[in-house]
Amino acid sequence: MGHLGESKRAVAVRVWVNGQQVDPEAPSIAALDHGVTVGDGVFETCKIVNGVPFALTRHAKRLDRSMAGLGLPAADHGVIEAGIRSVLAGEPIALGRLRYTVTAGAGPLGSDRGDSPLTYLVTAAPQEPNPDTAKLVVVPWTRNEHGATTGLKTTSYAENVVALAFAKERGAVEALFANTAGNLCECTGSNVFVVIDGEILTPDLASGPLAGVTRDLVIDWCRQEGLTVRAEPLPMSILDRAAEVFITSSTKDVLAVHAVDDWLVTAPGPLTARAAEIFARRSLEHLDP
Ligand SMILES: Cc1ncc(COP(=O)(O)O)c(C=O)c1O
Repeated sequence: MGHLGESKRAVAVRVWVNGQQVDPEAPSIAALDHGVTVGDGVFETCKIVNGVPFALTRHAKRLDRSMAGLGLPAADHGVIEAGIRSVLAGEPIALGRLRYTVTAGAGPLGSDRGDSPLTYLVTAAPQEPNPDTAKLVVVPWTRNEHGATTGLKTTSYAENVVALAFAKERGAVEALFANTAGNLCECTGSNVFVVIDGEILTPDLASGPLAGVTRDLVIDWCRQEGLTVRAEPLPMSILDRAAEVFITSSTKDVLAVHAVDDWLVTAPGPLTARAAEIFARRSLEHLDP
């Protein structure tokens, strides 16, 4: 049964590589692609609702920043858009994720880079609805807020794979990282917010998190609706005082946190519910904010 379920899921994934839609289970990338050998690439993940991707322009701009941060040439957005059109054609995906990746292309086996053309991959797949609330587990590894790729959405995500497995083994939905200074940073694929004394706080970008598209929209939209939201360095000990905790991402939207390790927190608390409502309403009004 498990096997049948797996192959059904694979069929539901639509994959486009360098100009054409391909069989998701057949080989389509060169073994020497630098994205494969050393994780030399960048990617974006957008939410799909009723066949329509959300916030494409913000994702495209972040891809440009990630490419520049890796020292890669600018991506051709016309190519990416053709791939997006291709994977979104046909039966609309009711709830899903669009992921596109640009890698350095074929390269040497080591960390030197070749001068091959960039590789473009675009995929779309349905996703399960999120749980109503989530548990976080603080992992014993730190995010490096001073790294060469800090703040870039690169395909070198093995650290996140290890951390997420650690959290899931402990019944959590996400893993929470501190940075090297012992401050709150982010999760493997989500940003984190806490509520203290009626104010919504989130780590500033100097603390090392990715500049999440959802994070930016939650900050802007909540401020526009009169809530106080501040981005600043936050000690990990702030979790002991937080009245509410929530995480944000393109695939999770605003997700209330009911536990951090063994510490329980009200979920959704009033400000989390308000942020979730604001985000849900505004994102329906503006598909490309
Ligand atoms: C490390 C990391 N932090 C935060 C996020 C949330 O960013 P966004 O809201 O743009 O999805 C992501 C996205 O997957 C991520 O990979």
